[in-house]
Amino acid sequence: MAKVIVVYETKYGNTKLVAEKIIEGMREVEGIETTLSEIKEFDLNKLANYDAILIGSPNHFGGPTRGIKKFIDKLGKLSLSGKSFAVFDTYLGKDFEKAVKKMEKQINEKVPGLKMIAPGLSIRVEGMKGLISEGELPKCIEFGKKIANLLKT
Ligand SMILES: Cc1cc2nc3c(=O)[nH]c(=O)nc-3n(C[C@H](O)[C@H](O)[C@H](O)COP(=O)(O)O)c2cc1C
Repeated sequence: MAKVIVVYETKYGNTKLVAEKIIEGMREVEGIETTLSEIKEFDLNKLANYDAILIGSPNHFGGPTRGIKKFIDKLGKLSLSGKSFAVFDTYLGKDFEKAVKKMEKQINEKVPGLKMIAPGLSIRVEGMKGLISEGELPKCIEFGKKIANLLKT
């Protein structure tokens, strides 16, 4: 049984909804156990219990939030070799994948033991507060399914 923790930060709830849809997709695959947690409620010492971590952030000023950047820095101080990760973001307008790419770069630089499961998911919202743009939520479910299947192989 592969155990996955999905952590996220959110100001208006959209990134949480993306996290929930990713979990919905993962649960369509047998043999995956998922847990969801807002980042500020997650105890880093519990990471030892998981095989994979998914990290989600809204795009704030062209990248992940300050809280997410600090969280990734803290991951760098743990021993996580053998575990894997994937990231996701929510963005407005033209910033497709900007926060995703920055998170992936930061993780690869600061947490070298963590292996990327698959390139991250970037989900568009319609305004500062959302809603999530039409056609985006099914991508979250597909992403969850893909991650779960990759973790099984
Ligand atoms: C302080 C702040 C800065 C933002 N800067 C950007 C930005 O540079 N690029 C962008 O695409 N969206 C930006 N946004 C829009 C957020 O990406 C959007 O509010 C977010 O995706 C909504 O997710 P949430 O409901 O999980 O908070 C910004 C939002 C806030 C609150």
